[in-house]
Amino acid sequence: MAKKVTVTTFQEMKETAEKITMLTAYDYTMAKIVDGSEVEAILVGDSLGMVMLGYPDTTGVTMEDMLHHTKAVSRGVTRAMVIADMPFLSYHLGIPQSVKNAGRLIQEGHAQAVKMEGGQEIIPDIRAIVRAGIPVMGHLGLTPQSIHTIGGYFIQGKSKEQAEKLIADALALVEAGVFGIVLECVPAELAAMITKKVTVPTIGIGAGAGCDGQVLVIHDLIGMLQGKVAKFVKQYGQIGHFMEEAISRYVQEVKNGVFPDAEHSYPIENAALNPANGEQK
Ligand code: KIV
Repeated sequence: MAKKVTVTTFQEMKETAEKITMLTAYDYTMAKIVDGSEVEAILVGDSLGMVMLGYPDTTGVTMEDMLHHTKAVSRGVTRAMVIADMPFLSYHLGIPQSVKNAGRLIQEGHAQAVKMEGGQEIIPDIRAIVRAGIPVMGHLGLTPQSIHTIGGYFIQGKSKEQAEKLIADALALVEAGVFGIVLECVPAELAAMITKKVTVPTIGIGAGAGCDGQVLVIHDLIGMLQGKVAKFVKQYGQIGHFMEEAISRYVQEVKNGVFPDAEHSYPIENAALNPANGEQK
C-alpha cells in the first residue's frame, strides 16, 4: 500500500521544492478517484455548501454537514492526507469550542488535519488546537466565510496596507504552529513573496505559480458544473457534458424501448414460467 502523506511529507516537499497538489472531494466515490490519482492532500472544503448543497455561499455550512462529508471522504482515502474545513462560526465562540470542533473532525470524521480561515485574530484558537495535537492549515487572502464583510469574491492584498497585513498574518500563523497556508486570490508576486518568507508550504488558488503547491475545487477542474468558472480555474475536462449526453441517451432509449434489451435482462427457463409444461410426464 502507498505510504500515507503526513505533515512531515508537506515539510519535506517544501524543503526539496517538489510541488504539492491538493484537490477537494466531498464524497466516497470522488475521494477514491482523487486518492488514486496520487494528489498529496484531499480537502473536504466548506465549498461543499455550494457544490453539494446548493447554498449561495459557505456561511450556511454546519459542523454536522462537515462531519457527514468528511466521514464519507475518509472512507475512500488510503494515501492522501484528508484535511477538513472548520465551518463558519465553529472557531469563533471560545477556545474550548474551537478545540472540541476541530477534535470532532479528527475523531469522528477521521480527517488528519483541519483548515481555518483567518489571520492574527484566530491565533489563540490555532495555538490551542495545535496544542491538542491537531495539525492546522491556515487560509489567507480571500476568505469566503467572511464574504459579507469583504463584499464579494475579489482579489486580496492589492494595496500596500493589505499586502503588509497578509505578510504579517502569514508569519503569525507560522508562529502559531500551522503546517501549511492556503493563499486564495492573492496577486502572484505577493504570494511568491510570502512563500519565500514562510517556513511552511503555501498552497495557492488564484495565487500564481510561485506557491509551494496548488489546490482546486474538483468539480471546477473536471467541468462537472456547467456555467462560468473563476479566471484562476483551468478545466481539464467537461464531465458535465458527458453526463448530460449519457443521461439523455438513457431517457431516449427507455422511451423508444431500446433499453433494457436482452443483454441487460435476466432470462428464465420457459418451464419455470409455465409450470404445467414442466410437470408433464
Ligand atoms: O472550501 C474550499 O474548497 C476551499 C478551497 C477553495 C481552498 O477552501
